[in-house]
Amino acid sequence: MARVLALANQKGGVAKTTSTLNLGVALKELGKRVLMIDMDPQGNLTMSQGINPDEVNPSMYNVLVQGVGIDDVIHAAEVDLAVASIDLAGAELALASVIGRERALTRALLSVRDTYDYILIDTPPSLGLLTINALTASDAVIVPVQCEYLSLRGLAQLEKTLELVRDNLNPNVHIGGILPTLLDARTLHGNEAVELLRSSFGDLVFKTVVRKTIKFAEAPVQGVSVIKYAPNSDAAESYRSLAREVLNGQKKI
Ligand SMILES: Nc1ncnc2c1ncn2[C@@H]1O[C@H](COP(=O)(O)OP(=O)(O)O)[C@@H](O)[C@H]1O
Ligand SMILES: [Mg+2]
Repeated sequence: MARVLALANQKGGVAKTTSTLNLGVALKELGKRVLMIDMDPQGNLTMSQGINPDEVNPSMYNVLVQGVGIDDVIHAAEVDLAVASIDLAGAELALASVIGRERALTRALLSVRDTYDYILIDTPPSLGLLTINALTASDAVIVPVQCEYLSLRGLAQLEKTLELVRDNLNPNVHIGGILPTLLDARTLHGNEAVELLRSSFGDLVFKTVVRKTIKFAEAPVQGVSVIKYAPNSDAAESYRSLAREVLNGQKKI
């Protein structure tokens, strides 16, 4: 049975999408069967594999709202990818009147849980119904956090939402790991933010820290992961290191 991991943080620009893709590719390198799911109407994960969200049909919208089989929206990319399209933005509204609306993704994943070892869900920058669907379907959550003081505060709100999901929808879901991202290691501020994360959240914080580098902006333009774009870079190595941490069993992931 696949482990289902959501990458979530209601703040935008913290590397949720980048981390979903590169963790997925790194887990595949280690021999795991991986499915990625794009739950963000912006379709950045879909785009980052060179697929145009304006042209795909069907997409996760049809899966969530109309019960189309998830197999029908999985594209063979670097890693198997269930694609998003722009109409996913309408899914929150369309689902609002559906009974069991928070479990639409959970239901959709039943048919593929035996096909994969890991299912990674990229989520939008909000705590709306799409993110709730992701949290309800997940065993654990990986929270990418930008190494800046202000962005640390959003974690309390995410934890509150997780508590609600645990009480009402999925008793097991929890934060499995916090991933410091976008570290500018040359600045005192960046390093202090990592220290603050570690002193506040202890072992929950991955040992892996992803540094800021322009390679992460360049790779999606080519429609590939950083691991494919620059396989020998520190950037690629950081996500391989994250994948090893996910597999080594030291965290509840
Ligand atoms: N380690 C990094 N260094 C530099 N830029 C990064 C890094 N990780 C992500 N980025 C860039 O930052 C932007 C936001 O990342 P993204 O993964 O889209 O965040 P989110 O999904 O949380 O909104 C993107 O342009 C991405 O290419
Ligand atoms: Mg994103």
